Amino acid sequence: MPTRSLPSSSDSQRDLAALLKSRVPLIVIETRDEPRALELLASLATRVNKEHTPVFQWTVTDGLRRVDIDLGGAQRHNSEPGEVLKSIRATDKAGLYVLLDLHPFLNDPVHVRLLKDICQTYARCARTVVLISHEISLPRELEHFSAKFKLAFPNREERRLIVEKVASDWAKAHGGKVKTDRKSFDLLVENLAGLSTGDTERLARKVIFDDGALLPSDLPAVMQAKYELFNRNGVLAFEYDTAQFADLGGMARLKEWLKQRRAAFDGSAPKLEAPKGVLLLGVQGCGKSVAAKAAAGIYGVPLLRLDFAAIHNKYIGESERNLRESLATADVLAPCVLWIDEIEKGVATGDGDSGTSRRLLGTFLTWLAEKKTKVFVVATANDITALPPELIRKGRFDEIFFVDLPRAPIRADILQIHAKKRELTFSDEEVTRLASACEGFSGAEIEQAIVSAVYAAHANNEPPSAAHVLNEFGATRPLSIVMEEKIAQLRQWAQDRTVQAE
Ligand SMILES: Nc1ncnc2c1ncn2[C@@H]1O[C@H](COP(=O)(O)OP(=O)(O)OP(=O)(O)O)[C@@H](O)[C@H]1O
Ligand SMILES: [Mg+2]
Repeated sequence: MPTRSLPSSSDSQRDLAALLKSRVPLIVIETRDEPRALELLASLATRVNKEHTPVFQWTVTDGLRRVDIDLGGAQRHNSEPGEVLKSIRATDKAGLYVLLDLHPFLNDPVHVRLLKDICQTYARCARTVVLISHEISLPRELEHFSAKFKLAFPNREERRLIVEKVASDWAKAHGGKVKTDRKSFDLLVENLAGLSTGDTERLARKVIFDDGALLPSDLPAVMQAKYELFNRNGVLAFEYDTAQFADLGGMARLKEWLKQRRAAFDGSAPKLEAPKGVLLLGVQGCGKSVAAKAAAGIYGVPLLRLDFAAIHNKYIGESERNLRESLATADVLAPCVLWIDEIEKGVATGDGDSGTSRRLLGTFLTWLAEKKTKVFVVATANDITALPPELIRKGRFDEIFFVDLPRAPIRADILQIHAKKRELTFSDEEVTRLASACEGFSGAEIEQAIVSAVYAAHANNEPPSAAHVLNEFGATRPLSIVMEEKIAQLRQWAQDRTVQAE
């Protein structure tokens, strides 16, 4: 059995200790993380009980061996399940008898009876049998002697030890130290939550062993690998591309709000309660999606996108189950940002779908209300008429932000962001002129004008300039004109229901 010591704070350790003390004769542990289960039991045998409890381990390949002390290799016997159970029944040696993968042999009535005998004579001799397999269906005869134990995933402290061990393994093998910084290290430890010990170590190894470094640039790949371990139904999509605040023009208030809560996600203040999420409402093309991506970017966590409309349309009759599974997956993948784009499309009411939308909304709201995990929801919507009132009631989301058309200084920011991406430079005066020339434009329209300007310049064999962009502005009929009335309504509606993102 491995001798690496577990931190005393382990939740699993505490729970299992309580279970062992309660003198249940048969403990069932269903897990794929056998090494961790064994490690836990080993640590408890010496720690919890005042007197030392011997620990025996059995597999069909190696038979029964004492594992808490080293008796050399000479003790292998009883590899037959019937034999080992008989010998446990006959012994008067109290102890923990850990039987690995006994489950295929539980079909045999003789084995079942032997186990029952052991359980029934527990008062005479405290032999605790622990069954560990990936899946165990216990015969009815044994049920009332038994307790199931659920192995928790490694906690932060345990994950930290695992990553440190991988780093020191690398250092031993290659000489020198792993190149990293505190922040990346903490983020990796945060992001490995919800995985078995084996997977935690495997992913940490993957990052560190490819180049002896653990840097911010390594994290997206880890998050994706973790996501791939869990993505079973495919309704959640992993978005590899996140954004930073520098990609998002304006929204100063939203940015400040997000920044204030960053410590709950990046590992620097893990005890801080995680916020539930925000709803971004507003004019289309003004950066709601970019803001969702930036939330993941600045929190340094994976961005998962939940397609509510697809759940609704693709899984007729099964949409609720699909939603529940997707939300459960998000919980496992925490910390993460769960981006729900156009939430109104999934939960719009009154469209004669025999209540599916209502039930989806109910499922989502219940999850949101009870959520304890670090899943930060960023929902976006631009059609207020389709939003059910329950969704925007106070206390559902932490805040509802309104994203309006950008004002001149913000348009200047957005212009610069997209000009820079295309290697265009404008003088300060040009920026000011351009920004005032695109009054009423959304960020998307500003970006589009720059893209078109680059094409136009190329077609004329000219270097793209402010004049080309001005030209494009002149040729655009922005949404704010086309949809003037709708936007006015939206603003009116938002006035006392939302906070300006700006
Ligand atoms: N505030 C902004 N800062 C930087 N870029 C922006 C901003 N607003 C819009 N853009 C650009 O316009 C594109 C469209 O914006 P985005 O998809 O974020 O808008 P949206 O509000 O989500 O719109 P929709 O309601 O149509 O989904 C983005 O890819 C981005 O390049
Ligand atoms: Mg969008």
